[in-house]
Amino acid sequence: MPKVLSSMAFAILGAAGAHAAEAPPPPATLGRTLFVDRCAKCHDADASRKLPGGRSLVERLATKPDLRAALQGRIKDLPEEQQKAIVSYVGSLVEKLPGSGDRTR
Ligand code: HEC
Repeated sequence: MPKVLSSMAFAILGAAGAHAAEAPPPPATLGRTLFVDRCAKCHDADASRKLPGGRSLVERLATKPDLRAALQGRIKDLPEEQQKAIVSYVGSLVEKLPGSGDRTR
């Protein structure tokens, strides 16, 4: 009986390990931190809070041809590296919206 239990435990741990190995790296960590710090109090951490007009920031951005240009006015005072991080984080949110194409560049 203990033998069976330990092989079950191995199977479970093995499956968990395989899953962890397949998981993508955390998306745009610096960008997420910056966004949460500076933007989330109005837009939520995933930019999903509804804005006037009924759509969220991420939904509005999904309709823009140039994500970076759309964000520029709000992030232009930040260092270049941080701007890129935010654009990349917000891009990853836009990509997760159903029906949007690949908009990160
Ligand atoms: C004090 C609250 C507040 C904070 C903080 C804030 N926003 Fe906003 N933001 C708003 C509101 C409200 C609107 C919608 C205004 C409107 O109806 O056009 C908006 C609109 C926008 C838009 C325009 C969307 C469009 O339709 O063109 C962008 C882009 C944007 N925010 C990005 C950001 C980013 C990036 C940050 C962080 C660096 C940020 N915002 C922080 C309140 C905020």
